[in-house]
Parts: sequence; structure tokens; C-alpha cells
Amino acid sequence: MADPSTLATITRKVVLVTGANSGIGLALCERLLAEDGEIHLCLACRNMQRAEAAKAALLLSHPGSDINLLRVDVGNIKSVIEAAQEIMQRYQRLDYLYLNAGIMPNPRINLKAFINGLFSSKVISMFATGEGLLTQEDWVTDDGLQQVFMTNVFGHFLLIRGLEPLLGQPGCPSQVIWTSSNNARKSAFSLTDYQHGHGQESYSSSKYATDLLSVALNKHYNSQVSSVAFVIDHRPITSTSKELVPSIECEVFR
Ligand SMILES: NC(=O)c1ccc[n+]([C@@H]2O[C@H](COP(=O)([O-])OP(=O)(O)OC[C@H]3O[C@@H](n4cnc5c(N)ncnc54)[C@H](OP(=O)(O)O)[C@@H]3O)[C@@H](O)[C@H]2O)c1
Repeated sequence: MADPSTLATITRKVVLVTGANSGIGLALCERLLAEDGEIHLCLACRNMQRAEAAKAALLLSHPGSDINLLRVDVGNIKSVIEAAQEIMQRYQRLDYLYLNAGIMPNPRINLKAFINGLFSSKVISMFATGEGLLTQEDWVTDDGLQQVFMTNVFGHFLLIRGLEPLLGQPGCPSQVIWTSSNNARKSAFSLTDYQHGHGQESYSSSKYATDLLSVALNKHYNSQVSSVAFVIDHRPITSTSKELVPSIECEVFR
């Protein structure tokens, strides 16, 4: 006889959120459980202690919820491949895949750009979006890839590819939802340097790349799998504000 927890994930919608243990990811999980207490929610995190703490917090506000944990470091190729295999073993369906984990390491003010911007026509957009204002630190991972690209883009892309057999099962369409940013900028992105190894706006480049990928995935898959990138505004820079989770998520969720 099948394990009851397996049976539950056949009938319940399965929702997986990367970077679910804090900030927008955790706020998103709160919102998802508030919208539908019947889902099976999988918190995909790199640190299991923080994941356990997030699960405990969610169970406190939503007692009896069906919450599971999965270890994944989206900045590490091996970890992503293993996580995809684990998900494939655990679940028969994957309704919503929220690609939320992300990093913007040590943004610093580019003083020269700031002073130039003050006296240019771009002054308002500079203050509104930080365009050209922040230099974003980056480095190379053990896998030989740029860290920001790997974490924000490629790790998640690998996860999608690894989960393809599970996505869009007959009668069970899947949605892939990227957390993008108003800091995504075409001017920061180049196809000849898509990892942004030679620039100073790795974060803006990575978020633009996720927007592009989201569009490309819709072309690649049939209607059983759809992809959307939702934009979070960087102005209220806080990682805990629930107001940052826009209503679009709930619309997507329905
Ligand atoms: N906050 C904003 O104003 C804002 C604006 C626009 C877009 N965003 C985007 O929103 C998303 C969430 O950001 P946030 O503000 O909530 O940031 P946060 O509070 O720093 O949370 C980021 C989450 O991603 C996880 N994470 C980072 N690197 C990871 C990795 N290699 N593998 C697995 N998980 C990893 C973190 O886990 P740990 O706890 O283990 O570090 C954490 O759970 C990001 O994609 C970010 O770019 C944020």
C-alpha cells in the first residue's frame, strides 16, 4: 500500500519555493498557505537549520499545514542535480515552482556614477531604480561560474531542466515563477558575457537574464508548462516586508 504522505502529494497541489527560509520567500510561503491550506509546500533551502526554523514559524501561523523540507544550494551544480533527483523521487506532480532564492552581494555606491548621474537627465531614474549607481560584487564558484549568475539564473535553470519529466503532467499544468526585480536591466546584460564576468552590475544582468529565460521557457514548453517573472521593487529595501509580495503571486497561484 502506498505511503499516506505520497498519496497526499498525488491529490494535493505541490508547491516548491527556493530560498524559502527568509525574506520574500518566507513571506510568499505565508501567503500561499493563507490562500490555500490544502497545498503541500516544500521549502527548498541551502541551510537546514534555517529551513527548520522557517517551517516552525509557518506551522505556528498555519497549524496542521503540510510542509516538507529539501536541501538545495542553487549556487552549486551538484547540489541542484541531487535536489532535482530527490524531488522527482518524492513527487508525482509539481504545480508551482517558485524560483526565488537570490543574492545581491555587497552592493556599493559607485561615487563617480552618482556624481555624474546627479547632473544628468537620468537623475530621477537613478534614485528610483539605482541604475548605474550600485556596483555589485561577484566572484567565481568552485564550478568555475560567476556566483551571481549561478545562484540567480543557472542553478534555477538546471533545476527546471532536471524537473522536466515532472512538469506539466497530463491534467496537471505547472507554473514556473521567477522572482525578478525592477533592477533587471537590459543595458547590464550582454549575450557575449551572459555571466557578467567583465562588468560591475552582475545582479542587474542576472535579473534581466531571468526575465529573458522566463519568456524563452514559454516558447519552449507547450501550454502545460508556463513561466512568469514577477518584478519586486528594490526601493523599499527590506528582506522581511510582507508587503513586498505582490498580489500577482496570488493571482498566479489561483
Ligand atoms: N528585497 C528586495 O528589495 C528585493 C527586490 C527585488 C527582488 N528581490 C529578489 O527577491 C528574492 C528574495 O530576496 P530577499 O530580499 O527575500 O533576500 P533574502 O532575505 O536575502 O533571502 C534570500 C533567500 O535566498 C536564499 N539563498 C541565497 N543563496 C542561495 C543558494 N545558493 N542556495 C539556496 N538558497 C539561497 C537565502 O538562503 P540563506 O538564508 O541560506 O542565505 C534566503 O532564503 C531574490 O531573488 C532577490 O533578488 C528582492
